[in-house]
Amino acid sequence: MKVLEINGKHELSGSIRISGAKNASVALIPAAILAEEESTICNVPEITDTDALCEILEYLNVGVKRASESIIIDPSDMKNLELKDIYCKKLRASYYFMGALLGKYKKVTMCFPGGCSIGKRPINLHLKGFEALGAIVSSEGNKYNVEADELRGANIYLDFASVGATINIMLAAVKAKGVTIIDNAAKEPEIVNVATFLNSMGAKIMGAGTSTIRIEGVEILHGCFHEVIPDRIEAGTYMIAGALCGNRLKIDNIIPTHVEALISKLQEVGCEIEQGEDYVVMTKPAQFKSTNIKTGVYPGFPTDLQQPFTVLLTQAKGKSKIEETIYENRFMHIAYLNLLGADISVKNQTATIFGPTTLVGGHVVATDLRAGAAMVIAGLIADGTTTISNIDHILRGYEEIVEKLISVGAKIESKEI
Ligand code: EPZ
Repeated sequence: MKVLEINGKHELSGSIRISGAKNASVALIPAAILAEEESTICNVPEITDTDALCEILEYLNVGVKRASESIIIDPSDMKNLELKDIYCKKLRASYYFMGALLGKYKKVTMCFPGGCSIGKRPINLHLKGFEALGAIVSSEGNKYNVEADELRGANIYLDFASVGATINIMLAAVKAKGVTIIDNAAKEPEIVNVATFLNSMGAKIMGAGTSTIRIEGVEILHGCFHEVIPDRIEAGTYMIAGALCGNRLKIDNIIPTHVEALISKLQEVGCEIEQGEDYVVMTKPAQFKSTNIKTGVYPGFPTDLQQPFTVLLTQAKGKSKIEETIYENRFMHIAYLNLLGADISVKNQTATIFGPTTLVGGHVVATDLRAGAAMVIAGLIADGTTTISNIDHILRGYEEIVEKLISVGAKIESKEI
């Protein structure tokens, strides 16, 4: 079994360069099939999630050429094949092929990966959007067939500002006849990145990044060149690590406004953060003050940083609270933090953390991607050695995490046991 082994309490200094955003890349790769010709997407992180999506492209007879951080995607000879379970369940974001194949061919048959450990994660809002555009949705078990004689622009209100539903409806609507308005749309930066890509192809999307997105359908989309934005969640993860064990640890190639909520909370707990145009410098403060956090949709405090931030709050003096409002089961890291010596209790959707507590290295499990990131951060500050299993969860979303941490002084290695 592959594990990460971390020897804790080593100071981190130097510079970590942030990679392209996983949660933009996993939408951009399916979106590329909407064009009639080849597109190049650069700054794509080399992680198992993007590899899995490229496998799906190749299964659909799409030309894929990977050159380090760039992918050249040529859909000119692609086929609209049914996406079997083996492909769909590799990652949840495979569901973006629903919107892309529906938008291109007016028909898609694929399985829905279903929920994962952090919650049920239904796709009712995605399907509601497709039906509003004129598609008929039928399902048999977890296999969905979505098809339309014609896709027509519609006014769609999202009961929840869902990131996935917003993007998937955009993908289905870009070639529909007429104008689509998405109200209560999600405003995450990744949505803006996808809209920019589609507009570079010739789409007519306005308002991405606001609650109301207007999409005027076009007939043809052409190939283009596009760059993935830096990963704000990877950046935030390393910023938290820098707050806990940094000595002028530079987190480079970021968009500071994308991590504004985190910067505000880090300052609130006592961090002095040096901010540049595309970087921050993190140094551990003498002590951490407690605070309360409530996760929310962008630009609120991101749910994806709730788990890493919990580790920091175990070192804060007094009582802190974290309320998770997005997912119903995103506290599985807490049992393992308590195993290492933390003092955290959970009631309903709120974790209460008493600190500071001394964390002592032990054997823990990455229950999901960001819980795994939390285990890495805990290992960096714990006394002694921490071993993390189930690390495929971590490698899905953090490009070269071992190499990046070693380069700034962490004692971490990936090993078979
Ligand atoms: C995206 O997931 C991200 N994943 C998640 O990051 C992130 O946590 C989430 O947005 C919120 O920011 C990707 O982009 C691949 P949602 P997504 O639709 O699109 C409910 C990570 O760690 N909902 O905004 O699935 C859903 O159950 C991952 O990188 C419905 O009820 O998020 C959840 O409670 C984890 N019906 C909430 O909305 C729907 O049709 C947020 O879901 C869709 C969603």
